[in-house]
Amino acid sequence: MIADSAEWRALEAHRNTFASRHLRDLFAEDPGRGRSMAVEAAGLYLDYSKNLVTGETIELLLALAERAGLHERIDAMFAGEPINRTENRAALHVALRAREGEEIRTGGRNVVPEVHAVLRKMAEFAGRVRSGDWTGFTGRRIANVVNIGIGGSDLGPRMAVEALRDHADRSMTFRFVSNVDGADVWEATADLDPEETLFIVSSKTFTTLETLTNARTAREWLLASLRDDRAVANHFVAVSSNAQGVAEFGIDPENMFEMWDWVGGRYSLDGAIGLSLMIAIGPAGFREMLEGFRELDEHVRTAPFERNLPVLLGLLWTWYGTFLGAETHAVIPYSRHLELFTTYLQQLDMESNGKSVDLDGELIPYQTGPVVWGTQGTDGQHAYFQLLHQGTKLIPCDLIGFVRPTHAIGRHHDLLMASLFAQSEALAFGRTRDEVRAEGVPEPLVPHRTFAGNRPTTTILADELDPRTLGRLIALYEHKVFTQGAIWNIDSFDQWGVELGKALASRIVPELESQTEPELHHDSSTNELIRRYRAGRARRS
Ligand code: F6P
Repeated sequence: MIADSAEWRALEAHRNTFASRHLRDLFAEDPGRGRSMAVEAAGLYLDYSKNLVTGETIELLLALAERAGLHERIDAMFAGEPINRTENRAALHVALRAREGEEIRTGGRNVVPEVHAVLRKMAEFAGRVRSGDWTGFTGRRIANVVNIGIGGSDLGPRMAVEALRDHADRSMTFRFVSNVDGADVWEATADLDPEETLFIVSSKTFTTLETLTNARTAREWLLASLRDDRAVANHFVAVSSNAQGVAEFGIDPENMFEMWDWVGGRYSLDGAIGLSLMIAIGPAGFREMLEGFRELDEHVRTAPFERNLPVLLGLLWTWYGTFLGAETHAVIPYSRHLELFTTYLQQLDMESNGKSVDLDGELIPYQTGPVVWGTQGTDGQHAYFQLLHQGTKLIPCDLIGFVRPTHAIGRHHDLLMASLFAQSEALAFGRTRDEVRAEGVPEPLVPHRTFAGNRPTTTILADELDPRTLGRLIALYEHKVFTQGAIWNIDSFDQWGVELGKALASRIVPELESQTEPELHHDSSTNELIRRYRAGRARRS
């Protein structure tokens, strides 16, 4: 096990020598650290100098990466090997952005031609919808696109359409329905005209309860006003790997955009799951985004680890979570358009690395994936930053900012970026008691006004938020997650943990819907909750 290796033990020993060092000392000892601990590649600048690391820490982490076989594991991913071992599949999201003519094989098949066939079909369809050539059943132009999906079939396009709103066709409305709470589909459709609305039912398996329930409700909503089953063909398309399920639902498989079992849902935005995004930003914008992904793919595969952005980021996250005991990691984009980025990362990171058994089926004695959280700056500063500055927990943060604004309005962007820089400075260096006293603060208030500092941040800067940069940022985090999974020797591409809740819910549904009082065989808490729900619902009706 990796935790028994000399490299792991060296990091544990190093952690102990590290405990008393403050970022103030580290910057005093090495005033050039702000430059030397920064790496720029593929349009992203990663400043990791305000982390609780020295050059030695990085060397030890790099040695751990070598020991974990990270190089070989990256090569295995790109070679289409079945690295998703518990499902005996490749994890070939990198093939979704491969250039035409490239060869990436899995199961003896080069998958790149299929990827490009689907991209072409998406581009053709997106072009027709955007131009008004694809119409609704009554001949009206499609003005509203509603993606129905959940998890990886929702969060990616939902986040990206918001992120790239400035690059999108603003004459169209884009909505996303995911929750099985009927309020979701109701809110998404209540003010839409069915004659102008296209639904994209996105589900890799086409068996997901939430998605199929919402899709059926959407179809009823459409037919309640168009009153002709043939209208479904104009107003419903699907993204799936399950052609039979799509046909059974009543969508012509001709109007299905294919995805494959070798792409995990949370890694699928850059394939057909991105159809709503492609309609929003156009095929050219989508291709730009794929270029951004590809740049990072090339980078992670070829850059030496000490200058490899996702590898460094993954090592930093591992350092905090596994060796320094941080339970959570915040990601705070200073961009209104990236308000859903961290929500997207939550699935990418936590569904991938929320594992406690390694690839050999052994229980893991060390900490794996952290709780990932965060919202857009500057809003977070007025909500939870107090805890980051003066709370008792170690919470490393990634701060993401852009040199140029999406909207150059007055001083806004300078104020936004000043906030990012100021937060990273304040978190790192704090304010000492002496500094507080020197400002004339009354003695009883001095402890309250003192900031310990030494709170780590990594700053990621890019020129501007455009499709290419978004692709780079997503791929940065995809490969970061991969780096950590490789070090922990876990399967970052399965998600067995979400199955039990689904199975139990399907057992409870008939108990809630039964006309007669069901015999309940759950634990006493679940039994009582079900009884109260049934009784309360009966009283209401
Ligand atoms: O929550 C489990 C999960 O399988 C995710 O991994 C996936 O993204 C989501 O459900 C949706 O699945 P599907 O695309 O098959 O509907």
